[in-house]
Amino acid sequence: MDVHDHLGKTRGRPVKALISQEELQQRITDLGKQITRDYAGQELVLLGVLKGSFLFMADLARAIDLPVTTEFLGLSSYSGGTESSGEVKVTLDLAHPIADKHLLVVEDIVDTGLTLAYILRMLSTRNPRSLKLCCLLDKPEGRKVQIEADYVGFTIPKRFVVGYGLDYNEFYRNLPYIGVMDE
Ligand code: IMP
Ligand code: MG
Repeated sequence: MDVHDHLGKTRGRPVKALISQEELQQRITDLGKQITRDYAGQELVLLGVLKGSFLFMADLARAIDLPVTTEFLGLSSYSGGTESSGEVKVTLDLAHPIADKHLLVVEDIVDTGLTLAYILRMLSTRNPRSLKLCCLLDKPEGRKVQIEADYVGFTIPKRFVVGYGLDYNEFYRNLPYIGVMDE
């Protein structure tokens, strides 16, 4: 893939592809099949964490062959740069109760794990029947709290990545692949 095709979407800063569009689609198809098998015969609530998961959520939902409903949780980290502060602000709450539902949290990336730890604490007080995590990307080297996703798309090194929903200062979310910025 020619990164220069995407310069218009990246405010002129070159981004090298780390995971291509094709690799993303193939892996998400497989995750969808696995989730479909694991929840066979059950209804599932997919809970997308905004904003980073919006593209992953859209593709994953279409790869799952189950009676699915969708919810969104809006979160924003207070820090603006490339480091998670661990302090999280809820900007949009779920539209429906989740008590007694099978809930699958759909996240873009786990780095320190602080954001997910916060989300899990908050959601478990609402008594879902089950609560699992599906993350597109995992950076295990960055972990500060012990959190493990039940479904992981790709394990990646401790680099700052953008694209396919992930941002740097709110830009780059619309790149169709996962990239790393040239340093
Ligand atoms: P954590 O709390 O450090 O696990 O990460 C929380 C959030 O930080 C993620 O949901 C992302 O929104 C953001 N984040 C972490 N690593 C990256 C990255 O490499 N690129 C873009 N956003 C990231
Ligand atoms: Mg996020």
